[in-house]
Amino acid sequence: MCGIIGYVGPRDASKVVVEGLRRMEYRGYDSAGVAVIADGALDVRKKAGKITNLDAAAADHPLAASETGIGHTRWATHGGPTDFNAHPHVSANGRVALIHNGIIENFAPLRAELEQGGVTFRSETDSEVAAQLLGRAVADGADLADAMRSVCNRLHGAFTLVAIDAAEPGRLVAARRNSPLVVGVGDGENFVASDVAAFIEFTRQAIELGQDQVVDVTRDGVTVTDFDGRPAESHPFEVTWDLSAAEKQGYDWFMRKEIYEQPQAVADTLLGRYNEDGSLKLDELHIPEAELRTIDKIIIVACGTAYYAGMVAKYAIEHWTRIACEVEIASEFRYRDPIITPRTLVVTLSQSGETADTLMAIRHAREQGAKVIAICNTNGATIPRESDAVIYTHAGPEIGVASTKGFLTQVAACYLLGLYLAQVRETKFGDEIGAIMSELAAVPPLIQRVLDEIEPIKQLAAKHVETESVLFLGRHVGYPVALEGALKLKEIAYLHAEGFPAGELKHGPIALVENQIPIFVVVPPQGRDQLHDKVISNIQEVRARGAFTVVLAEDDDHEVTPYADFLFRLPKVSTLMQPLVATVPLQMFACEVASLKGYDVDQPRNLAKSVTVE
Ligand code: F6R
Repeated sequence: MCGIIGYVGPRDASKVVVEGLRRMEYRGYDSAGVAVIADGALDVRKKAGKITNLDAAAADHPLAASETGIGHTRWATHGGPTDFNAHPHVSANGRVALIHNGIIENFAPLRAELEQGGVTFRSETDSEVAAQLLGRAVADGADLADAMRSVCNRLHGAFTLVAIDAAEPGRLVAARRNSPLVVGVGDGENFVASDVAAFIEFTRQAIELGQDQVVDVTRDGVTVTDFDGRPAESHPFEVTWDLSAAEKQGYDWFMRKEIYEQPQAVADTLLGRYNEDGSLKLDELHIPEAELRTIDKIIIVACGTAYYAGMVAKYAIEHWTRIACEVEIASEFRYRDPIITPRTLVVTLSQSGETADTLMAIRHAREQGAKVIAICNTNGATIPRESDAVIYTHAGPEIGVASTKGFLTQVAACYLLGLYLAQVRETKFGDEIGAIMSELAAVPPLIQRVLDEIEPIKQLAAKHVETESVLFLGRHVGYPVALEGALKLKEIAYLHAEGFPAGELKHGPIALVENQIPIFVVVPPQGRDQLHDKVISNIQEVRARGAFTVVLAEDDDHEVTPYADFLFRLPKVSTLMQPLVATVPLQMFACEVASLKGYDVDQPRNLAKSVTVE
């Protein structure tokens, strides 16, 4: 959601802050703003729209030079994306500037209380109440950190807050509850941000903040306490990737760069997690094997693309472990009162590790006694911290709002987990596990082959750029691939796109088929002949009704050729490995269509990455 940064140090704070915001703009781009302290007063610029609008405002009226600054990119919740609603919010007495990510659920009574006390609000946001409360407390003589703690104790909901006081240059105070915040520790300078990408240019030393903690930051020090002022434990870590990973490196879009990074991302996710004989070694899984043997149900919980990765994983996990596996949309999970026992294993998938719906599902599962394993791409994020164990996907930062390498690496990590469970529970022989592991390890060069041969997909996109609707069909693991193909197209090309199980079409959706509508079909590998042949019948059914069939089929599948208006060849892999190669052309098709339509591929309308509100 929103991107937050704060800086204290010798550099020009407004420059550090704006550059940090640029690196986090994927988190929200409805408006942006900066506040710095100069000559005992706040200097603030904020503008609706993307950071370029803020740049223009700052070019007309440059921000004062300062050693202390905060900045924010917003994804609007309360109040539209206007200049007034943009952060930072300044307290009525002009002392405190504050930025907020999250939702303050009890803002209405707090606002009424402040208004009764004579405060005039300048925005429609929930966030401004925190600025006003903080301004009032420091005016009454409270120390900024004490004031922050007392304000936090009055707020309900999810929040990261960062504040500066005009009377105290060289200091900022931040707090978090259910919303991300990391501290960047430099040499004579310190940072706070929603994401390490904001400060990776200056330091790789970071500190994870825990739940309900306040951090007091100056040039030379960082002090962490809980909301009652007691010293609190925090966890230092080193960021393992560098600035180049957070830059486009010559690509037009982060999304395209991330599509091309997939062979490496999948290889890195597998690296070091299996032995030469193909047996699994998931050292990071600190759940005793004896406990894993008692598991009688797995529930995979995730949102969006991660949910589709979970759908793929279900087929593999059930097949390899014979444990019943459900897949559930995180935002629905706790509201249906799921049956959870201490023998239930909940597996959550989250690229960002901060998705609020997934986090709440984890908390519910753990309260009910389940063990939770997180599969996550972001070191030290809230979801892995609140889980019993974590398997990190080593995809590197994913910055394009539409998830690509997140999906492939989540599938790969789920497969590692599934094979590990099969090993521990002995539902597969060691040589069988070794054979599947070798297939998985052989996938990255095959993804590379798909990318090397992707050109015709770009031409296909050019041909269909004006189409209004696209359908995607698949069966078995091809079905979630179809859903993912449709989601990508909706998200970034704003097209009507739907994914269906190919067999379900005749039960209703076939009525959508009209002349020349492009229909993508993921054809399962041959060998599972019933499945393969049935999909070929499904292709014929839509073709007979005038569809333009785009067929993704393995190398030597000649049976499909007569029914394909466009044929894309996939490397020959087993059924369960096919999603890892078949998703790639669908990602690229969406990226191309959106580019050709002139849309902002990395920052599609209405969306933001890392969805930290429920
Ligand atoms: C789709 C997309 C979203 C995310 C979803 C979960 O391209 O990016 O659907 O997959 O919001 O996000 P994470 O994986 O960060 O929990």
